[in-house]
Amino acid sequence: MCGIFGYCSFLKEKERKEIVEILCSGLARQEYRGYDSCGIGIDGDKKDEVFFFKDVGKVAGLRKTIAESKADFSKTFASQVSIAHTRWATHGPPSHINCHPIRSDPTNEFIVVHNGIVTNSNALRQVLQKRGYKFESETDTEAVAILAKYIYDSQPEKRMSFTSLVKAVLKELEGSFAFVFKSIHYPNEVVTARRGSPLLIGVKTDKKLKVDFVDVELSGADAERQTIDSLAPKDPASLLAPPTQPKMSRRQSRNFMSEDGLPQPIEFFIASDAAAIVEHTKRVLYLEDDDIAHIAEGQLHIHRLRRDDNDKPDLPSTRNIETLEIEIAAIMKGKFDHFMQKEIFEQPESVVNTMRGRVNFEGHKVTLGGLRAYLPFIRRCRRIVFCACGTSYHSALATRAIFEELTEIPVVIELASDFLDRKTPIFRDDVCVFVSQSGETADTILALRYCLERGALCVGVVNSVGSTLSRETHCGIHINAGPEIGVASTKAYTSQYIALMLMALQLSEDRISLSERRNSIIQGLYELPNQIKAVLDVDKSLRELAGSVLANQRSLLLMGRGYQHATCLEGALKIKEISYMHSEGILAGELKHGPLALIDENMPVIIIMTQDSLYPKVQSAFAQITARKAHPIVICNEGDTDVNAEYFIRVPKTVDCLQGLLNIIPLQLLSYHLAVKNGFDVDFPRNLAKSVTTE
Ligand code: F6R
Repeated sequence: MCGIFGYCSFLKEKERKEIVEILCSGLARQEYRGYDSCGIGIDGDKKDEVFFFKDVGKVAGLRKTIAESKADFSKTFASQVSIAHTRWATHGPPSHINCHPIRSDPTNEFIVVHNGIVTNSNALRQVLQKRGYKFESETDTEAVAILAKYIYDSQPEKRMSFTSLVKAVLKELEGSFAFVFKSIHYPNEVVTARRGSPLLIGVKTDKKLKVDFVDVELSGADAERQTIDSLAPKDPASLLAPPTQPKMSRRQSRNFMSEDGLPQPIEFFIASDAAAIVEHTKRVLYLEDDDIAHIAEGQLHIHRLRRDDNDKPDLPSTRNIETLEIEIAAIMKGKFDHFMQKEIFEQPESVVNTMRGRVNFEGHKVTLGGLRAYLPFIRRCRRIVFCACGTSYHSALATRAIFEELTEIPVVIELASDFLDRKTPIFRDDVCVFVSQSGETADTILALRYCLERGALCVGVVNSVGSTLSRETHCGIHINAGPEIGVASTKAYTSQYIALMLMALQLSEDRISLSERRNSIIQGLYELPNQIKAVLDVDKSLRELAGSVLANQRSLLLMGRGYQHATCLEGALKIKEISYMHSEGILAGELKHGPLALIDENMPVIIIMTQDSLYPKVQSAFAQITARKAHPIVICNEGDTDVNAEYFIRVPKTVDCLQGLLNIIPLQLLSYHLAVKNGFDVDFPRNLAKSVTTE
């Protein structure tokens, strides 16, 4: 849901051409977050001038627009700050005028890029319009840019620091956001802040830093809080009263200096995702909610915006510069045509990475270090509540039965949005497990905070290290699938599935009566990577099947039962999201309660008939649909001969609770080939974005 990027260089001679390239590549790496439009704002030729380059659509178009511009790209800057944005439209359609950076006025006094939604933007807009300020876009962000100008205009002596000014703006805002602000009144400074949307800052220096491991201390002085509160009361109508001058906030961080203490060339990269930074530096600082970072004169200072006395008391009082562990190759397509294709084919390795160091295959033992301290509590809990969205929800659904079987703890699976809508009762002896690839999905994070408030133990199952979910849960499991860039989730699904299996196995380790069952599952996990490779080998025939049988269809039903219900839902989601074909996952047991009415000789059906205890029941579903002249594609195990059908997809056999890991792969490949065949943009499906940071 929008990617933001900022680039600041100090005492480092940079050509405009280079700056533009850094911005565009920072956007391209975050394009999966939204690709309705993109834009950059950089210093112009004269002081007080800002150049914008904007385009509706993807970064490739923006690059073209820039190439055609008459600007002087050889102009150099000793120090500069610039900002950029790739948009997933929420307020106002994709258009040039709604494209970020958003300006406060035609002279660009304040320019802003924003990820998230300011929910009280209409109220702010009305108040500012009454004060005579003109709006040109439909975005919620414009109210923020104009509010910054209003606060600036309202101070008689114009002496407010950039940080104080942004603090005053933020105090007025409701909703979620990550911002970067730039202003002609504060040349070579940026202020960036977050509440609810991810944000990190990369630091790159040519020389060794004296402070190699930098702590950034929090402020939080009551005096400062009072100042801010009095400056910006909650009711937007109070904006009619001009703000008073706040005290300068205390600088709380140590500066970056070289060993000899002299200022050194330094660059900062601000982004929504580490993937945009890793090609420049691996040294990053993740901002927390209500952090405000000010970058100026080669220095970085972190301030806190305290909203009320309930502000999270347990936030760490120091922030560390962390070292990113991702490699640049992990975020490149390599020999593949699309990220999604690469990620599907990575699964033999990504599942190994999820199990690495956690499973002792000979000793039949599972150890999840991140859960160890909490195991006694989890084993005694009243129930386990899984909460997630989309594909992550399906991974929880896929493992529910084995959780219940191995742990004998009641399991509830919740879609995060619905869980919140219902204000579901949660108790102190519940264990709530939040599953998320990005760790930044707004609904899942809000559900997590809801459960934290009610005293439940909160466990994260997350792919993105350092994400909000991984930081705010009590404990958890990183699935270690590596960066997933394709908007359609593939390898994260199989790794989430395995991580949840491992959790169930660990929770049940002392149950002697289940040891045979557990051992067979662990053996199944051992064989899994090679079995996934075997499924991937049938890619060519799946491409042909997609082209010959499915490509021109309007609709597709996927049916199965038991463990395969989740596979059907996940397969249907993959197909609809990237090939735009209506597809529906159906629990085969429900067929006769309605969906059977859809079946005739023209309705394409995929039915999952791999061998498990429910096989006879799926056989009867098969009989019901073929009796109505359907020609189903059957997913079955290698060597199965008792089904009479026209089309088969054969997969190796594994333990019942792991079979879904193999069955989903042909469906991922089919959806991929369908999208390619129909000429759709596989990695950037229309209207979607990878990280859904808005409710
Ligand atoms: C589908 C897909 C989405 C996500 C969902 C949750 O392919 O990717 O359905 O699974 O938006 O995202 P995370 O897992 O990041 O919380």
